Amino acid sequence: MKDTDYMALALSLAERGRGWTSPNPMVGAVLVKEGRIIGQGWHKRRGGLHAEREALANCQESPDRATLYVTLEPCCHYGRQPPCTDAILEAGISRVVVGSVDPNPLVAGKGIDLLRTHGVAVETGVLRAECDRLNRAFFHYITTKRPYVTMKYAMTLDGKISTCTGASQWITGEAARERVHWDRHVNASILVGVGTVLADDPLLTCRMDGGKNPLRVVCDTRLRTPLDSKLLRTAHEVPTILATGPVTPEKAAPYEAAGCQVWPLPLREGHVDLAALMDQLGTAEIDSLLLEGGGTLNWSMLEAGLVQRIQAYIAPKLFGGEGAKSPVGGAGVALPDRAFRLEDTTVTRIGEDFLIEGDVQYVHRDR
Ligand SMILES: NC(=O)c1ccc[n+]([C@@H]2O[C@H](COP(=O)([O-])OP(=O)(O)OC[C@H]3O[C@@H](n4cnc5c(N)ncnc54)[C@H](OP(=O)(O)O)[C@@H]3O)[C@@H](O)[C@H]2O)c1
Repeated sequence: MKDTDYMALALSLAERGRGWTSPNPMVGAVLVKEGRIIGQGWHKRRGGLHAEREALANCQESPDRATLYVTLEPCCHYGRQPPCTDAILEAGISRVVVGSVDPNPLVAGKGIDLLRTHGVAVETGVLRAECDRLNRAFFHYITTKRPYVTMKYAMTLDGKISTCTGASQWITGEAARERVHWDRHVNASILVGVGTVLADDPLLTCRMDGGKNPLRVVCDTRLRTPLDSKLLRTAHEVPTILATGPVTPEKAAPYEAAGCQVWPLPLREGHVDLAALMDQLGTAEIDSLLLEGGGTLNWSMLEAGLVQRIQAYIAPKLFGGEGAKSPVGGAGVALPDRAFRLEDTTVTRIGEDFLIEGDVQYVHRDR
């Protein structure tokens, strides 16, 4: 097996942590000695052993002079766990092959330098693109201190998210709707506008076997979320935040009694300042956010430059209707060359539907 083969194995191990490691990265590690795999591990959940220490703990023989394949640069600082570089040196590992260099300012090449200083041969950049892609949410969060935002919506082939009467259940088929629960599991939080709460009374939970609920966040400048909504009736069980404007303790009291956190935030153009909300979520160690609309909030988030990725579930059907809503509303752009463009797009068939995904490019827009 080649270096890339062992790194591919480490990547598949790292993937097993998806949804559980937040706000830590997903990391996988493989120990190889004389062509034999002698240990494997991955970071299982926040606060747990790092992948390198997991692999060492699972080692079937002495790791002395083994090669360690690890998807992310080993840490060299004390966090919830002691530095992995210490464990690597203590184990006598002679070669380390790294996928991504850690952009965390606390690490950022220092882990690699430290190992080299102690005589360990270190190679970097093996399957780097794949390793970087695995942790794109973590990289964004650790460098901006804001959650990585994925805007997700389901629409018909003629770009409608509901019919002319406002009916929206269901647009996509069962397989695509199941996949959305996976999306909720892997994101630390979910965000909707109060318009969606008033129209649909959604629960916004993850209904997948073995999945976990994201933190639910509603943008609600004037606290219009109904006290008898499903969100509020379940707020004691599922953490829920109402992001609002200036609010008196009396007005916030019934929402807090229902189990919600009420976050008063500055206003921007009469609505919740979304950049301030992202900052506060980042401070609360929320590294990823699934934006589930509707169109008014989707536009505002996009316009503010806060959306990193689009996930468009497209059903091969047509609703028609001039008044039927589309996934992104607001003022819109005036000319085609002002469009928000996507790069690295992929198309996946899910049951009878299609999922088109891509990264939002802001660089070429004259903002
Ligand atoms: N098919 C899909 O994937 C999908 C997903 C979600 C929703 N939907 C549909 O979308 C429709 C609701 O969409 P909508 O556009 O009416 O509502 P929305 O985007 O869910 O909520 C908009 C409201 O959010 C509040 N808000 C607070 N801060 C904001 C900010 N900075 N920018 C923008 N809004 C902010 C505003 O009211 P205040 O400022 O007064 O608080 C605004 O009216 C429903 O029909 C629902 O079924 C479809």
